[in-house]
Amino acid sequence: MAYETLLIDRDGPVAIITINRPKVLNALNGVVLAELSRAFDELESDRTVLAVVITGSGERAFVAGADIGELAALADAKAGETKARAGHEVGHKIEHSRLPVIMAINGYALGGGLELAMAGDIRLASSSAKLGQPEVNLGIVAGFGGSQRLPRLVGQGMASYLLLSGEQIGADEAKQANLVEKVFAPEQLLPEAIKLAKTIAAKGPLAVAATKRLIHKGMQTDLHSALELEAAEFGKISATKDAKEGTKAFLEKRPANFKGD
Ligand code: COA
Repeated sequence: MAYETLLIDRDGPVAIITINRPKVLNALNGVVLAELSRAFDELESDRTVLAVVITGSGERAFVAGADIGELAALADAKAGETKARAGHEVGHKIEHSRLPVIMAINGYALGGGLELAMAGDIRLASSSAKLGQPEVNLGIVAGFGGSQRLPRLVGQGMASYLLLSGEQIGADEAKQANLVEKVFAPEQLLPEAIKLAKTIAAKGPLAVAATKRLIHKGMQTDLHSALELEAAEFGKISATKDAKEGTKAFLEKRPANFKGD
């Protein structure tokens, strides 16, 4: 189905979603949020897709935040809460997707942009990227998951620094803070993101999905319960055809041919 605010391309098993509102630095309005949610439903059910890259259109921004025009028009507390929940839904879809999601942060990732990036599995950034949670500058709070995902990713001190000051940090500082995993020259970012997505797409898809589930569920619980989850997933995955194929291929010194079953 066609999208008004997203471009969706394919490179083999990798779907590349480009948020495409460059005139407003790819700000997330209601249409983008709804379309991201729909795009994930569609990609999820397409078994030929094995990994996703999300990036922003143009050279300046990944996403410069929620659309401030829409925020300014929020009529009351109920409308604000509904807006936050629309942002949460996108984060939830990404986090609960079977698909590994790599965020290619090609410029500003501010407010809702950083919140979107934090819902992904792996964040790669251009050396020109600027990241921050500037909501306090607008007299509001982070509402698309930032107040919760940021401390979980970078710890309370750095999260408080970013959320309370509204300061932006560059890609290298973000890497030091574990907010991004790798930094590339701008022209290398998308090729590297696609390369990584293809590397992951070549692994056993059930194992990739189970690993993603374990990381997300395990981070929300105590170690003992998390290890129980791991044992159960390990058991289920060990019984799949892909597990038989992967281990047999190793012993036969040939590449594995995973089928996702
Ligand atoms: N929502 C709506 N429009 C936005 C936007 C947002 N989050 N971020 C940028 N834009 C628009 C600007 O209004 C401007 O539109 P115009 O050309 O019609 O005036 C256009 O994008 C370009 O932005 P501009 O501010 O002129 O670029 P800049 O290089 O001077 O500054 C930023 C870039 C990212 C620092 C600045 O745009 C900014 O601070 N944006 C808001 C970031 C933010 O607070 N995000 C959190 C929202 S909760």
